[in-house]
Amino acid sequence: MSAAIGLEDVFVRFPVARDWRGRVTVQAHALNGVSIAVARGRTLGILGESGCGKSTLAQVLTGLLPPSSGRVTGDRDGRISIVLQDPNSSLDPRMPVWRIVTEPVFLHAPTRREALRAMAADLLECVGLRPDHVDRYPHEFSGGQRQRIAIARALSSKPDIIILDEPTSALDVSVQAQILNLLLALQAELGLAFVLISHNVAVIRHFCDEVAVMYLGQIVEQGSVDTVFADPAHPYTRTLLDAVPRIGTGRAHHALDETELPSNRTLPTGCFFQNRCPMAAAGCERPQILSGGAGGHLVRCHRA
Ligand SMILES: Nc1ncnc2c1ncn2[C@@H]1O[C@H](COP(=O)(O)OP(=O)(O)O)[C@@H](O)[C@H]1O
Ligand code: SF4
Ligand SMILES: [Mg+2]
Repeated sequence: MSAAIGLEDVFVRFPVARDWRGRVTVQAHALNGVSIAVARGRTLGILGESGCGKSTLAQVLTGLLPPSSGRVTGDRDGRISIVLQDPNSSLDPRMPVWRIVTEPVFLHAPTRREALRAMAADLLECVGLRPDHVDRYPHEFSGGQRQRIAIARALSSKPDIIILDEPTSALDVSVQAQILNLLLALQAELGLAFVLISHNVAVIRHFCDEVAVMYLGQIVEQGSVDTVFADPAHPYTRTLLDAVPRIGTGRAHHALDETELPSNRTLPTGCFFQNRCPMAAAGCERPQILSGGAGGHLVRCHRA
């Protein structure tokens, strides 16, 4: 299957501080050599903790952020949309829903109001909302409904690929599955490719075909969801999957709670996971490369 879009060895650095001449003295190394391929009609999961570079990757894929180095690949006529985590901040509260939903179309080619309202009614129906609600405003909808509006907006430009950046993280647990199921139904109907970004292991496991596990701006493990989840090879992936919900808070507890995530201002030399890795040994002080076994299962660890 040919890749609809991809990244080749992408680095992104953000300037954080400058000296009196304006030269950058400190930078955040958000992405450190990321390569991915998104296949048509499939879902690639990006799994990792907060701050590992997931949203930066999303911004590069959508073309909103140019990489510091590396390339975005793919056919230029393929269209790409994005759905963000928080529908409250991504929907303009002063706009009626028909304008929100059709804004990408309007910006591309100004269209008459009645045509846009009709288009919006169809799009609302596609995402399970009432078509006669086109004149309502965002505050008249629940959180889950607002995320459906954001999905309708993403569909309006008839994309081939939708980037979903933590699309259900701000929603009640009961609503999360409804939104994810809606996305799967739309994918089956429209043949969409998804990049589903999440810190939630269960979400990735249930809704993705492939997964890339990220740590400190690098992919540490990559492969089919079936392979990676049945047989995780990188110590970081294992730690994530071993997490046991803590009684009372429901929050996952794992070994990572006792050690610190290194700063991305000064990257570690050698394996980025070294200071937290239960398997660290001689050889881990050298940089690790993402290398492969059978079936495209890639791991960045010489001891895996
Ligand atoms: N505009 C920015 N300026 C400076 N640092 C940034 C900027 N955007 C992201 N970063 C840094 O890049 C790293 C990755 O951030 P992000 O991609 O948002 O991670 P995630 O989505 O996985 O939580 C973080 O250390 C973050 O502070
Ligand atoms: S290279 Fe060493 S420190 Fe890094 S994940 Fe593998 S065993 Fe752990
Ligand atoms: Mg993010």
